[in-house]
Amino acid sequence: MSKQRTLRMECGKPNQVIYVLGTVLNIDVYKPAPLGSKSFEVHSSPGVKCSISDLHNVTVVAQHAKRWILNNRTLVVVTMEKISNYVNDNKVTITYYGDKLDQPIDKIILQLTAVYISLDVDADRDGKVEKNNPNKGSWKWGPKGHGAILLVNCDKDAPGAAVSDRSDDTVPIFEDLADMSQMILRTEGPTSLPPDYKLQLYISASDEKKVHVFRHDLTKMTKVLGGTMLSVVMDYTKGNNEYNFFIEGLRFPDKEIGSLVTVNLSLLEPMIVGYAPIFTEQVVFHLAPWIMTPNTLAPQDVYVCSVMDNAKFLKEFTALVEKAMSKLTICREDMNRGDRWIQDEIEFGYSAAPHKTFPIVFDSPRNRGLEMFPYKKLLGPDFGHVTRTSDVGNSLDSFGNLEVSPPVTVNGKEYPMGRIIIGSAFPTTSHGRNMTKVVQDFLYAQTVQSPIELFSDWLHVGHVDEFLTFVPAPDRKGFRLLLVSPDACCKLFMKIQQEGHGEAMLFENLNTTPIKINEILNNQALLRDNSYVQKCVDWNRDVLKKELGLDEEDIIDIPVLFRIRDHFQRAVALFPDMVNMIVLGKYLGIPKPFGPLINGKCPLESAVRAALEPLGLDCNFIDDFDAYHLQLGEVHCGSNVLRKPFAFKWWNMEM
Ligand SMILES: *[C@@H]1O[C@H](CO)[C@@H](O)[C@H](O)[C@H]1NC(C)=O
Ligand SMILES: *[C@@H]1O[C@H](CO)[C@@H](O)[C@H](O)[C@H]1NC(C)=O
Ligand SMILES: *[C@@H]1O[C@H](CO)[C@@H](O)[C@H](O)[C@H]1NC(C)=O
Ligand SMILES: *[C@@H]1O[C@H](CO)[C@@H](O)[C@H](O)[C@H]1NC(C)=O
Repeated sequence: MSKQRTLRMECGKPNQVIYVLGTVLNIDVYKPAPLGSKSFEVHSSPGVKCSISDLHNVTVVAQHAKRWILNNRTLVVVTMEKISNYVNDNKVTITYYGDKLDQPIDKIILQLTAVYISLDVDADRDGKVEKNNPNKGSWKWGPKGHGAILLVNCDKDAPGAAVSDRSDDTVPIFEDLADMSQMILRTEGPTSLPPDYKLQLYISASDEKKVHVFRHDLTKMTKVLGGTMLSVVMDYTKGNNEYNFFIEGLRFPDKEIGSLVTVNLSLLEPMIVGYAPIFTEQVVFHLAPWIMTPNTLAPQDVYVCSVMDNAKFLKEFTALVEKAMSKLTICREDMNRGDRWIQDEIEFGYSAAPHKTFPIVFDSPRNRGLEMFPYKKLLGPDFGHVTRTSDVGNSLDSFGNLEVSPPVTVNGKEYPMGRIIIGSAFPTTSHGRNMTKVVQDFLYAQTVQSPIELFSDWLHVGHVDEFLTFVPAPDRKGFRLLLVSPDACCKLFMKIQQEGHGEAMLFENLNTTPIKINEILNNQALLRDNSYVQKCVDWNRDVLKKELGLDEEDIIDIPVLFRIRDHFQRAVALFPDMVNMIVLGKYLGIPKPFGPLINGKCPLESAVRAALEPLGLDCNFIDDFDAYHLQLGEVHCGSNVLRKPFAFKWWNMEM
């Protein structure tokens, strides 16, 4: 709809009006009419279109085509289509008549100057700022949607800067502009103008913490909005001009701030006292969310820690990464300070806008030995960093407890970038551990990977990666969900026993007490504990089937046994937990279970191979026993993967 502007006119002296193309002027002809006026005429120069709007529908004085009966709700509606060549080059005259039809009583003269003003953004999401997009003032999801996008400028382009780019009020180097969204204020008009008109850009107080707006003026960049600056006024200059602005997002969408930012523009007319806005428009941006990458996306960079006692593991792990032809980054001990759980400290993701995409590490509130790693080694040019901190913390805040499913469709609703999965206390208990609220709020506020909460507090460590993972598959939904299964493990061990291998032992040749299959199957307490674990996993299985729209055929049971470790009856894996694997394309790095050797083969490994190899997956069993398993983690807990972003663009989601 066109912008309407009501004009108040006076008879006698000329009224000078700046008209902005695309707007509609409504002139009330009744109020300024001199006493005794009965009808009026309207004349205009060729550049002006006038029409009469009369809500009473009382129409024309018949014999005179341009003469109209004056009513208390009569408006003259004025529009123009071309920019003026010079000031006041167009004219509208409204002449009033009384009883005598040939004697005008008085008249209103309008002198019009038409200008073009538009605040422009990339509202059609093609990476370029177009001219005067009719949809720029609102934001809509989907392939047919519209509205501009703002990246949170959370990387650090300037070498030597202490903090990320959003933390400063300047644009330290040119590269930083590429992370920002461009906004152009375009004006076109005659080469002279009535003096002292101003242009004002402004944002609401609720948006000041969300953005910085910089003006690019000849050689310098000046912050004009954001922080404590809510408005900026510039001189409106004659002729054709482009005022260039660059906008950076300062905060990710979150519970209390929402995700939209509005920038308004007004044209201000000088009055005897101060200024009055005579034209206003707005542009709307959506802050780009932080997006997680599931195991089905291609690995780009693999991370692992080097610590005092994991040389053997590192060797096998490196071989796997080489086989998968990925890049390996080893975080050294001076940086990790003995903390090997790199899955728990960080989660890799990214953020995308039509003009730019870059990876962003989400830094957990856990902050143990690896605390400085994301700041010192990851944050950098085109590598962003975001964190949430909390005074109250527990093991469920670690990001082994934060995973994401591959893309799914659930009852017709599409999740083209999958769904975030976190572990919590059982919904009906009032005690127990949950992921800290600030992290949960952040995850929910990103909205594009709508989170699912599972029950993981039954585990001593309490992370979802201890009982589930996703692997790529060529068929069905493009993946399989792998779940731990004590039940499957017991059945396998009973079969081994029936085949006469009950005396075969787990953990042979390791620095730990071996256990016989017979001992496991005779340990009633252990079997009882595992049937409890199976129930916990089954509860999650049902939630996952419902929330991810999975069938039984989409799920593979992986034989794993647990033991109860603490006085809260919480569980840890009895032998290396094969679900806690790293997935690099089709190459899987699976914790070597050290099961019994029957004819030189481990039936646990064979079971996993039999289930996964038909899907084209390459199973590599890695010895993480001493360096990880005995310390209550496995391969996945001790590694991390930066993956390629989705080809799918988040703004094309139907929400
Ligand atoms: C006003 O006049 C127009 C055109 O003659 C007609 O279509 C419309 O229905 C009228 N409206 C009212 C409220 O009488
Ligand atoms: C406008 O004129 C109509 C019809 O003559 C009358 O009913 C109405 O009260 C008037 N309204 C005002 C605001 O003068
Ligand atoms: C910007 O303009 C819109 C639409 O005219 C208005 O709703 C909003 O309040 C304005 N924002 C500010 C900060 O004035
Ligand atoms: C943990 O989260 C679950 C799921 O949101 C909730 O039902 C439960 O009350 C929470 N428990 C605690 C102790 O906060």
